[in-house]
Amino acid sequence: MLIPIAAILMAVVLLMAWTRGWLGAARLTPQDMVNTAQAGSPHPGFRRAHAKGICFSGSFTPAPAAAGLSIARVFSQPSTPVVGRFSNPGNDPHAQDRQAAVRGMALRMRTDDGQEWRLAMNSFPFFAAATPEGFQAMNVAKLPDPATGKPDPEKMKAVLARYPEIANFIAWSKTAATPDSLANTRFNGVNAFRLTDAQGRVRAVRWSMRPHTPFAAADPARLAAADRDFLAADLDRRLAQGPLEWDMVMQFAAPGDVIEDPSRPWPDTRPEQVAGTLKLVRAEPQANGPCKDLNFDPLILPKGISGTDDPVLHARSAVYSVSFNRREREVSQGAGKEEGAR
Ligand code: HEM
Repeated sequence: MLIPIAAILMAVVLLMAWTRGWLGAARLTPQDMVNTAQAGSPHPGFRRAHAKGICFSGSFTPAPAAAGLSIARVFSQPSTPVVGRFSNPGNDPHAQDRQAAVRGMALRMRTDDGQEWRLAMNSFPFFAAATPEGFQAMNVAKLPDPATGKPDPEKMKAVLARYPEIANFIAWSKTAATPDSLANTRFNGVNAFRLTDAQGRVRAVRWSMRPHTPFAAADPARLAAADRDFLAADLDRRLAQGPLEWDMVMQFAAPGDVIEDPSRPWPDTRPEQVAGTLKLVRAEPQANGPCKDLNFDPLILPKGISGTDDPVLHARSAVYSVSFNRREREVSQGAGKEEGAR
């Protein structure tokens, strides 16, 4: 009798160990993800991803009906100051803007009750992978093979077989038109969050920043000849004419929609509501700008907005903290002042 009970107990322990990642391949850590992001090209003092950036400031004004969305103070206070950052992906603070098919927008809003809401969005409409493991496997497969100096296509094939959702992202990236300006780029939160209203009703949403400036696709020939920092120059030129605006659009999940997987967008037919408008009035180089030493951790949320169990969201929070700690340590030792880095 004792032997079967011991066998059952052992099986339960093994199952628990397996599901928690204690068996088999070593558990993926935030340090592993940052090491991969910075592989091959160290730029001490800079973000390990989205290293090239432009600081901006402005304000967020809620729409009249926004207070009904969530008790978050940002939706009832007349206006909230914003510090933000536009960025290009990759770990090179000197990268050519023409290579940045994807662009980022990060925001930090601090309301009069001292609460903060930090957001980091990208111009892609959905994320490449459903899990941190898939994203990491894709990034490892993209690293140059030491033997050839180029990524090994067989490794990417194996990744696609294991994480098939990544093929959707590759297909999107082959067809998506690149906007010719940051001003007419739509930025998407991609991960879902939950809003709680004054009645205690909780709704899952995804947010996007929809530009007031009409979309114009970058002309491929002009893009190929564009200056390294043409996005910042274009932004300065436009801001000299007046503020730039984006509407924050909330998309609501319907029953049955998958909430915890950023690689699976919800259908466009889901209801939407404009929660407010971001007005951007000033841009400045990140070197001494107010966004430089910020960590736009997407889990820094005010009361009334909460995260979900999406593993990518939680990985982001942990990974940004590792990247932030590395770069701030290096800055305190005098790094991060590379000439020409915006
Ligand atoms: C597991 C998945 C992800 C990993 C490992 C990752 C990694 C990173 C790292 C290392 C940084 C630099 C953080 C810092 O030093 O402050 C960063 C910044 C950023 N990430 Fe991610 N990221 C992930 C997913 C995403 C997603 C889903 C989005 C958008 C929807 C996104 C948007 C951004 C943006 C906009 C920035 C720049 C923020 C700033 O301006 O400081 N990331 N990411």
